[in-house]
Amino acid sequence: MYKAGEPLLNHDDDVENAPDRNMQRGNVHALQMFLLSTFLLLFLAGSAFHPKPLMLRSAEHRRDDQHYDCNISLVESIPIGLNYTPNSPKFMSTFEAWQRLLDLGNSTLDIGSFYWTMRGEDTGFNHSSAEPGEQIFNRLLANGPDFIGGSPKIKIRIAQSEPSSVSPNLDTKILESYGAAKVVSLDFRKYLGGGILHTKLWIVDNKHFYLGSANMDWRALTQVKELGVLAQNCPQLTSDLAKIFKAYWYLGSNADARIPSSWSFDYKTDYNKEQPMILNVNKEYTMQAFASSAPPPLSAPGRTHDLDAILNSINSALEFVHISVMDYYPLIVFGQKLQFWPAIDNAIRSAAIERGVHVKMLISWWQHSDASMDHYLRSLQDLTMSNRHVNIEIRRFIVPADEDQKRIPYGRVNHNKYMVTDRVAYIGTSNWSGDYFTDTAGIGLVLKDTVPNMTASIRNDLQNIFDRDWNSTYAHALT
Ligand SMILES: *[C@@H]1O[C@H](CO)[C@@H](O)[C@H](O)[C@H]1NC(C)=O
Ligand SMILES: *[C@@H]1O[C@H](CO)[C@@H](O)[C@H](O)[C@H]1NC(C)=O
Ligand SMILES: *[C@@H]1O[C@H](CO)[C@@H](O)[C@H](O)[C@H]1NC(C)=O
Ligand SMILES: *[C@@H]1O[C@H](CO)[C@@H](O)[C@H](O)[C@H]1NC(C)=O
Ligand SMILES: *[C@@H]1O[C@H](CO)[C@@H](O)[C@H](O)[C@H]1NC(C)=O
Ligand SMILES: *[C@@H]1O[C@H](CO)[C@@H](O)[C@H](O)[C@H]1NC(C)=O
Repeated sequence: MYKAGEPLLNHDDDVENAPDRNMQRGNVHALQMFLLSTFLLLFLAGSAFHPKPLMLRSAEHRRDDQHYDCNISLVESIPIGLNYTPNSPKFMSTFEAWQRLLDLGNSTLDIGSFYWTMRGEDTGFNHSSAEPGEQIFNRLLANGPDFIGGSPKIKIRIAQSEPSSVSPNLDTKILESYGAAKVVSLDFRKYLGGGILHTKLWIVDNKHFYLGSANMDWRALTQVKELGVLAQNCPQLTSDLAKIFKAYWYLGSNADARIPSSWSFDYKTDYNKEQPMILNVNKEYTMQAFASSAPPPLSAPGRTHDLDAILNSINSALEFVHISVMDYYPLIVFGQKLQFWPAIDNAIRSAAIERGVHVKMLISWWQHSDASMDHYLRSLQDLTMSNRHVNIEIRRFIVPADEDQKRIPYGRVNHNKYMVTDRVAYIGTSNWSGDYFTDTAGIGLVLKDTVPNMTASIRNDLQNIFDRDWNSTYAHALT
């Protein structure tokens, strides 16, 4: 929206070239002042009136105003036994989305992943709810020549984080040994002295993708609450994400590979927070979109850093910021010594204090949560008392577990990582602590409404998901 005003604010050029060359200098100034104040009025009014002309103007100033088709939907894993009230918003499951992608693919499948435990036995625990995970695994395995005779049906490439004794990644060993997939491991100790590949991304035929919080883990389909997006027939945005995968593949497939000081042209993107891609979503409405990447050394020229995507989304909110992340710390958690990392915390505080933006944060709680997190959360929520305009509310989301479910290791948690504001939907793969933006590889997707307060949009869907969870019996006040 503010883009529309930029030419007027920045330079005299537009006015100097005004058709009426006889206009006197004083009049030019008066006109400038008039235009400026009109613009400010429109801006302050939140474009409540005449949003159309403003939008059209901003489109005119784009270098690339091409619209690209993309069918996007939100997909979720809702843990077994977590029940919402009837008529609550419901979306396609992650399991269905992955099956859909496997159905669609006829040429390539690239998976960017952290670790692999798709089979019950990988977790030392054969639970009946591992079945969907095993089904997906078996479909990947069936790509191997031994099963179908001849060459693999499609070309599967997997980039995973370097396996360790605690996570040996047996699944990918099996897939590789059956010729079903090519697998590379990324060792971030070599590239950055530490960190992991934490991305969860599927790219099919360079045309369809999944991006979200779900690991390649059977529990991510039935026992852990996940949120992501499925995009179908979305070649331009998918090709852009493929450039991030390409960097992972480069690092993983050469033993001597190091992060280049500058990524070459092949990895460069034209789409970022300054110049998003315009998507024609489901042939129904348009949205602005771009993918962000972390950590910064992995970003090729043009790529918005994941942290900047988050800060920009918070900073551009006018009314509300709703955040749902598993862990939130204004700290570098895994450093050698405790380090304060206030980038996101500061953005939240200024949004609430300076702009009266209403902030809600839904943070997870499970048996492995560190109780120290409560202090950082409470210090944010406490600001609500400071001034009547300031409103920061925080709740903890607890996934219920019965006796049987409690025995599942590292299950039963809300693993979502997203944010929704009055203008933006941000879907990510990272917890919100410094580590995820300094040495951990992750990806974010920013989708912005082109028409404010659009009801038929992904952003609105995400808002409904947040409201459903926030108002559910599983959301608890901070104690
Ligand atoms: C969006 O809707 C809300 C509630 O209906 C309204 O208060 C607000 O002004 C609207 N914002 C814009 C940018 O139109
Ligand atoms: C894959 O399927 C698409 C239609 O979904 C088709 O246009 C394309 O030619 C197919 N490619 C191959 C390699 O079979
Ligand atoms: C789980 O099932 C697999 C295959 O059926 C079996 O090999 C394994 O021993 C089982 N593991 C446990 C812990 O029961
Ligand atoms: C988009 O995808 C959804 C979910 O798969 C499907 O129901 C819908 O028909 C698709 N829309 C278009 C325009 O392709
Ligand atoms: C962040 O998320 C991962 C899972 O994605 C979880 O295992 C981990 O403990 C979380 N917390 C931190 C501080 O990294
Ligand atoms: C649910 O939560 C939202 C805030 O996230 C609130 O605005 C809305 O009124 C609530 N809805 C119900 C039905 O309680």
